[in-house]
Amino acid sequence: MRQAGRYLPEYRATREKAGDFLTLCKTPELACEATLQPLHRFPLDAAIVFSDILTIPDAMGLGLSIEEGMGPVFERPLHTRAAIDALHVPDPESETRYVMDTIRLVRRELAGAVPLIGFAGSPWTLATYMVEGRSSREFSRIKAMMYDQPGDLHRLLETLTDSVAVYLNAQIAAGAQAVMLFDTWGGVLAPKDYREFSLRYMRRIVGAMTRSPDGDAVPVILFTKGGASHLEEIADTGCDAVGLDWTVDIADARARIGGKVALQGNLDPNVLYASPARIREEVAGILESYGAGPGHVFNLGHGIHPGIDPGRVAVLVDAVHEISVEYHQKSGNSLQ
Ligand code: CP3
Repeated sequence: MRQAGRYLPEYRATREKAGDFLTLCKTPELACEATLQPLHRFPLDAAIVFSDILTIPDAMGLGLSIEEGMGPVFERPLHTRAAIDALHVPDPESETRYVMDTIRLVRRELAGAVPLIGFAGSPWTLATYMVEGRSSREFSRIKAMMYDQPGDLHRLLETLTDSVAVYLNAQIAAGAQAVMLFDTWGGVLAPKDYREFSLRYMRRIVGAMTRSPDGDAVPVILFTKGGASHLEEIADTGCDAVGLDWTVDIADARARIGGKVALQGNLDPNVLYASPARIREEVAGILESYGAGPGHVFNLGHGIHPGIDPGRVAVLVDAVHEISVEYHQKSGNSLQ
């Protein structure tokens, strides 16, 4: 998750070359370069396309800028029903063509070395940015809308659901070999509201995915940050894998849903501020907690912070490769 980014000096140089973050996303040669940078440094097992979840609201015309220290800001946040009604479903191959071009370019450059993951934001998570106009701690505007004008919010979520579904299918057509939905803010909802305003729309998106273009399965991964109390329902959407943040014990998650889906996670990215020995210990703890057998994709429980030393990421990746071997052998299925 966010394996490229500001913690890498070469990323900062590429962003400098582009001028700003959005221009970097919109220039396929540079976005391809940023995608591959972490893979040049570390023996990672997959690439994730360098992009952002806010490409869709940007294509809808909300006037996005992303400023250092500020995060994303929209010039025209959604404050009225009329503004919501006026939104269109962006055509992915024209209005976000740069993402598809980046995917095509990365696939060519990777030449099959590792699979490429595409992604999008969940409708609820996108809606939080579009209604608040920026990153938020309180979610005051969108929650007021949810409680007082639920019909307006549902209308917005419908348009976003259609947009995300065609966008991810276009990524699959362009060559994404797995797709991930980031529901970063699903965890700020009460359980009943999570079901009504986030989960049901993600379920629709999962159902709309082209799951096997050319006969190859394209796994769909759902990640709700703070979603520990909803794991069964998330696994029931029909997704293939569930992303976990670090607030859940992966052994519990496996007992609850491991028979149905693969699990991706779940190291606290802040562990990367600790010493190499502690990093190895924490990695070993997660691998031991999941236990033997297939179905675990080791990952961080959220993105890498800009202050992390890339050397510590190397320690992490090496520890996963070294220590996990034992658990594959224990599965009794070492031919897989
Ligand atoms: O190559 C990769 O590893 C993919 C990178 C990636 C980015 N954004 C690049 C990025 C991914 C997977 C995302 C998804 C994304 N974007 C999410 C969902 C995942 C999560 O983190 O919960 C969200 C909520 C966003 C929205 C967003 N974009 C925010 C809140 C910010 C500001 C973050 C900050 O620390 O300032 C962004 C900008 C962004 N997206 C950056 C990067 C590398 C930093 C921009 C910069 O270079 O200054």
